[in-house]
Amino acid sequence: MKGIVLAGGTATRLYPLSKAISKQIMPVYDKPMIYYPLSTLMLAGIKEVLIISTPRDLPMFKDLLGDGLNLGMRFEYVVQEKPNGLAQAFVLGADFLDGDSACLILGDNMFYGQGFSKMLKEAKDIENGACVFGYYVRDPRAYGVVEFDANGKVLSLEEKPANPKSNYAVPGLYFYDSSVVDRARKLQLSARGEYEITDLNKEYLKEGLLQVKQFGRGFAWLDTGNCDSLLEAGNFVETIQKRQGFYISCIEEIAWRNKWVDNNQLFRLGQELDKTAYGQYILSLLD
Ligand code: G1P
Repeated sequence: MKGIVLAGGTATRLYPLSKAISKQIMPVYDKPMIYYPLSTLMLAGIKEVLIISTPRDLPMFKDLLGDGLNLGMRFEYVVQEKPNGLAQAFVLGADFLDGDSACLILGDNMFYGQGFSKMLKEAKDIENGACVFGYYVRDPRAYGVVEFDANGKVLSLEEKPANPKSNYAVPGLYFYDSSVVDRARKLQLSARGEYEITDLNKEYLKEGLLQVKQFGRGFAWLDTGNCDSLLEAGNFVETIQKRQGFYISCIEEIAWRNKWVDNNQLFRLGQELDKTAYGQYILSLLD
């Protein structure tokens, strides 16, 4: 399985910040936002990742992340000329995927909670079909919404419904089998002019090939869509890190724990940043 991070969009609710810099490079406490979704792919055990972004922002990601070799990974980059929708990621990523199954994560989605790696690994094992998630939120109107029956069977999926049929939002983390590229190619533009991920998921649902796993209330799925939620996400990361001493989404640590880099490589990664608490943390892992 290969991974795709979609870090595009205009992020108008973050103006003027997002006029100056890509939303997904903005800091969430002590690291660029894209580290969080990238670390989710890494926790799933995905080593090859395609980063898709706008013509303006893609060079910033290349500059930040490079070819991924220093993490024992491989990064590729593709431009999305216009914000034509999430499902277009699979058409743009067809060459990169090269017939493989795919996990898509949105560049501004942050996940944190016990048992997450296990859930990711289960979702990754999918051979036939798709796996997405459901997360209870107070107001799901800004999201894809999934409706379940009493037995947890999926009844419907809707994109940004005015009158949601449930409180379960679908977070921006999706696992698909290798048929995803063909399915994405067949999608029609929606009323808002996008190739909708929800329409893609509905195709799988129609054929009985969509699994939806629920995150419990002890799990955090955070949003960074406006200035308040961006700050709240940063405060959340600060609180946990200061209390525990463990870092959230330290990509160097995860690469090392995955055994993609050895002690010497980790030492070098830490040394490059040794003037910062982040670099010191990396070095402390070797104590
Ligand atoms: C997108 C998807 C939506 C999903 C959300 C998660 O919304 O279209 O189904 O619930 O991401 O963040 P957008 O970011 O386009 O508003």
